[in-house]
Amino acid sequence: MSSSRKRLAVAAAAAIAIATQLAITHTAQAATAHPAAKAGSAAAPAAAAADYTAAQVLAGVQKNSTSSTQVNSKPHINTMTRSMNVNVYQPAPGVYSYTSSMAIDDDGSDPDPDPDHQGETTFQDSNGAQLAAHHVPFFVLGDDCWDKKTPCPHFFYKEHGMSGRQFALMFYKGKVIGSIFGDTQTGNSQTTSDNDSRELGEASVKAASLLGIPSSGTTGGVDNGVTVVMFSGPSWVVNGSNANLSNNAQALVQKALNTLGAAMDGGGTTPPPPTGTLFEAETGSMSSGGTFDSNHTGFTGSGFANPANAAGSYLDIPVTADSAGTKTLTFRYSDGTSSARPATISVNGTSHGTLNFPVTSDWNTWSTATISVPLTAGANTIRVTGTVADGPANIDSVTVS
Ligand code: GCU
Repeated sequence: MSSSRKRLAVAAAAAIAIATQLAITHTAQAATAHPAAKAGSAAAPAAAAADYTAAQVLAGVQKNSTSSTQVNSKPHINTMTRSMNVNVYQPAPGVYSYTSSMAIDDDGSDPDPDPDHQGETTFQDSNGAQLAAHHVPFFVLGDDCWDKKTPCPHFFYKEHGMSGRQFALMFYKGKVIGSIFGDTQTGNSQTTSDNDSRELGEASVKAASLLGIPSSGTTGGVDNGVTVVMFSGPSWVVNGSNANLSNNAQALVQKALNTLGAAMDGGGTTPPPPTGTLFEAETGSMSSGGTFDSNHTGFTGSGFANPANAAGSYLDIPVTADSAGTKTLTFRYSDGTSSARPATISVNGTSHGTLNFPVTSDWNTWSTATISVPLTAGANTIRVTGTVADGPANIDSVTVS
């Protein structure tokens, strides 16, 4: 459960000033921005042709945050100012957004001088450790439906395909970061003070520091202007340990910007990633006992998958294809033992045979193994299932071409 700093004194004047400022910003961005990444356009000089920028996506989110996309029917509470003026919108299917404060959550496994510090977070890293608020950028949502009703008149994450470590983009003053759902605000039904599950507007020390917000659990935070855009569904759950969850979340930022940017454009103007696209194993998930590690050298991205040592243990990697058809999957893997680690490769639940993963000279040496499989256009899940008692090899990435 979260502990955080909340300032009550500032409320009214600051809220009015900030509301005015936001309204101006919103109008200006909505007028110029939406759309995106037309190839060769001067609109996004720093980005590759197919990439949406943070400014474009934030403008699209603001433009699509209207009464027709509002999810909650009763207002949420700004955690810092206590104003009941925060709403949650659905700017694209399965994507939920709010703009509020950032109060600082310093709970979890990192020590913190805050007298309110609690050792536990609601969710844990992939190894079962309490999240580390100084290392992992995480955001906080209500623990229950405050009204005890279904459907909930407020935004209640369990009704919207969200669970622990769900990915979100967080925007503040021109910056964007990746973060995960890490902790909840307990629902003890106090209406006038701290700890109310209707609160929105709290995130970890690390989220604050990445966004340039004062990050002390006792004196930090900001009263408004932080936009959190949450991506629901199992493919947007971020895996990893306290040591690499932040990197794993940052690795998803451009993909999230492109996915949401394209969805808000009607899905038409930005093509899916081109063929030859590399997908990191650490964006995937594993059967019980697997861990995302970084204790050997030579991997790309922020680490590699170490599936459990058991026949039948598996790794799922989400990939996208720009068109349907037969594609070559090139797995980058390591097997530092003296026996190969054959694994069946399936796509969206259908097996396409067994691929051998021969030994490499040690765990720091990476080789490739390829197989041709049919993919559908858009999202696909590649599953690598070990057929021997050692389970699958360590897997760094898969490239689709
Ligand atoms: C070692 C190695 C791991 C590997 C494991 C295995 O422990 O460090 O990275 O996954 O062996 O046999 O699968």
